[in-house]
Amino acid sequence: MTDTLTITQPDDWHLHVRSSEMAQCVIPYTAAQFGRALIMPNLTPPVTTTARALQYREEVLECLPETSGFDPKMAIYLTDRTRVEDVLEASQSEHVLGFKLYPAGATTNSDSGVTKITHLMPIFELMAEKGVVLQVHGEVTDPHVDVFDREAVFIEQVLHPLHNEIPDLKIVLEHITTQQGAEFVSQSDQNIGATITPQHLMYNRNEIFRGGIQPHKYCLPILKREKHRQALVEAAIGGNPSFFLGTDSAPHTRQSKESACGCAGIFSAHAAMEFYTHVFESADALDKLEAFASHNGAGFYGLPINKNKITLKRTDQIIPNQIGIKGLQVPQEIVPLMAGEVLNWSVVR
Ligand code: NCD
Ligand code: ZN
Repeated sequence: MTDTLTITQPDDWHLHVRSSEMAQCVIPYTAAQFGRALIMPNLTPPVTTTARALQYREEVLECLPETSGFDPKMAIYLTDRTRVEDVLEASQSEHVLGFKLYPAGATTNSDSGVTKITHLMPIFELMAEKGVVLQVHGEVTDPHVDVFDREAVFIEQVLHPLHNEIPDLKIVLEHITTQQGAEFVSQSDQNIGATITPQHLMYNRNEIFRGGIQPHKYCLPILKREKHRQALVEAAIGGNPSFFLGTDSAPHTRQSKESACGCAGIFSAHAAMEFYTHVFESADALDKLEAFASHNGAGFYGLPINKNKITLKRTDQIIPNQIGIKGLQVPQEIVPLMAGEVLNWSVVR
């Protein structure tokens, strides 16, 4: 049995860090494990330009000691008003990796998202030409579509046609949750990639209702049936370089999760690599973890793999019941994924 695992330092290709005290609280967790992370732009107001993204990047770096080698990469929020000039600017910055498409109303802070995707075809054409990646929240927002079907319908109605129309556009289908998502990516060429979160690899939708409603297992896209979870595990361990790590760690305060209308998002940055290691070990595929976590995403984005290594050890850790956010007038906390439970791996620090 493998008790120690040393791999190239991984990257997190889908991460929410928010701002101010929340950012100060959560960013050190990611920087302790990952070399780079793609920082999502769904702040209020959203990060819609390169200038603003670079400012936000500085804010992220200020949450870390100067000696930290962490390199935040930025995604810009695509809106109905995104202009050709915005794409040109983004294409010139080494810190900006793409534009994030949120269908308007699909998820947390997506009110400024895109209302009519076909109106943005000239923007997508230019992105393809300039090698700027499109990161996609792949769910339709039609309230008549069942919430568990929204990803599959998006793939059929939006993604398939978009990829056929502009095959040179590099697209990441973010946080895939379904067999249809995994199949679409497997059957596409190397211009289509996908991130997979720890929660969608570990849990099926029963988890949201285990013994009562479990708000800390609620995220979007929502957890799906067991057969979909199994398809995602197969995709992650299958060796196809189009699948890579993206935690979608999305911190919210306990108050905003444990509420009459609790918001979507699961915080996993505190033990992200341990979650993935646990999943890969359960699937008897620890030897596939490094490619998924440390090689595939960098390859997709045309970046070198990290020089550093990290080591994981088979050592139990108890996940805290809560993580306090410092510096707030009224104390608040985050409830981390697997709060109060024991995980059998730990990153060696
Ligand atoms: C994310 C958030 O809270 O920002 N929530 C989530 O459930 N994943 C937004 C997103 O990625 O959909
Ligand atoms: Zn997200």
